[in-house]
Amino acid sequence: MKNSKNLIVFLMMLFFFSSCKKDGIEITYERYTPEDYSVLTESLTLPNDLLDYTFVFPKYYNSRSLSMDSDLATLGRVMFYDKNLSDDRTISCASCHKQELAFADDAAFSDGVNSNQTARNSLALGSVFNFAEYYGDPNQGRIPFFWDNRAISVQEQSRQTFANVDEMNMPMDKVIERVNEYPFYSILFRETFGDDAVTEDRVLDAVSEFVNSLSTYNSKYDKALDQHFEVNNSIFNIEGTTLQGLTAQENIGKNLYLTNCGNCHGRINGFPGEVAANNGLDMTYDDRGIGSFTNNSFEDGLFKVPTLRNIALTGPFMHDGRFETLEEVVEHYSSGIQNHNNLSNELKSGGQAKNMNFTADEKASLIAFLNTFTDTDMITDERYADPFN
Ligand code: HEC
Ligand code: HEC
Repeated sequence: MKNSKNLIVFLMMLFFFSSCKKDGIEITYERYTPEDYSVLTESLTLPNDLLDYTFVFPKYYNSRSLSMDSDLATLGRVMFYDKNLSDDRTISCASCHKQELAFADDAAFSDGVNSNQTARNSLALGSVFNFAEYYGDPNQGRIPFFWDNRAISVQEQSRQTFANVDEMNMPMDKVIERVNEYPFYSILFRETFGDDAVTEDRVLDAVSEFVNSLSTYNSKYDKALDQHFEVNNSIFNIEGTTLQGLTAQENIGKNLYLTNCGNCHGRINGFPGEVAANNGLDMTYDDRGIGSFTNNSFEDGLFKVPTLRNIALTGPFMHDGRFETLEEVVEHYSSGIQNHNNLSNELKSGGQAKNMNFTADEKASLIAFLNTFTDTDMITDERYADPFN
């Protein structure tokens, strides 16, 4: 697993050499033995080749790439879509994190196992890695997961999700039992780890590798930033600058966003400016958010500042899915902010809630700009799709 880079190079060479014509016979590289591949394809639609999960950042973020372990991510992808890993075999991760919705759900609360429902709105995935990446140095900590920030890594998040009675209701020993029921997993485990021993760490690492590989950097805004970066070699000072890749209306929306929203949700919509905040939804919260986890009243009504990547696809909005549309969300910030004790200073002036009082044109511009966060590539990317037949 540690040698995955070398393995990929080796496989690429193998592919190169093996796909050339020898004596007029076309030889193509096959990843699995014919016996293994026929077992796999009884249940799964996987190419007889490895899909590349390398994570590529946009130019404005140094064009860096991070090699992911593609075997591990493939195994994780299968688990992510496997309903047999839930108590009553009806729910997979993908039931609540749907690819076509940027890995969110379109219900305020999602259906879990045994006819239960989640207590909060499903969070969109697909930016998880840049969260981990932002504070990727373990010494600095990471941006935690869940609306109440209670999980520190995707591994921990996945363990809690499997075990959650409203979601999958599967303690890890039961997950392992189920995995052992299916011969295709032995093959995938052997490919990934060299042997087919199913352990808790291996399962959680695989799911995490897949979730961490979900890259979403091909939105219109990303492209506009890249275009700007190519000319200016920097994306600082984009306030007030016209980005060539955006329409006039979207540019107005961008400026409004950077002034009013970017300090919390992130200036370039990758790195949240704040990890958690109270954004004044209510005067008293039924769900205390981070306060329910820490039991500190000064953290009541504080919730994770969610990513706005793909926001046009991920409604309903907020931790309880109270808003159906982006119009309602913008109206909240325009006129509905409540002066809760823990309301973020960012949303206050003179000790009072600072409603933003947008004009109708401003609201429309802001929404036009939020629509440029949609990455249509990721929602159709084969690497992230359901592999089951
Ligand atoms: C029944 C619906 C459901 C299922 C099944 C489910 N999730 Fe979730 N997921 C949610 C909800 C709801 C939240 C937010 C919960 C909270 O914050 O308390 C969430 C949050 C998350 C987060 C945190 C994202 C963030 O930005 O903090 C990740 C990552 C995640 N889920 C991945 C998974 C994985 C992996 C699986 C399968 C092992 C899975 N989910 C299964 C509903 C579900
Ligand atoms: C003080 C920090 C802060 C500021 C400023 C802020 N937000 Fe938020 N935003 C949050 C928090 C926290 C949440 C989640 C609150 C909850 O669910 O209880 C949120 C939620 C959202 C959501 C819903 C996301 C989802 O996945 O459900 C949208 C959309 C949104 N904000 C847009 C905006 C826009 C547009 C602006 C500027 C007009 C803005 N926000 C300004 C902190 C902020």
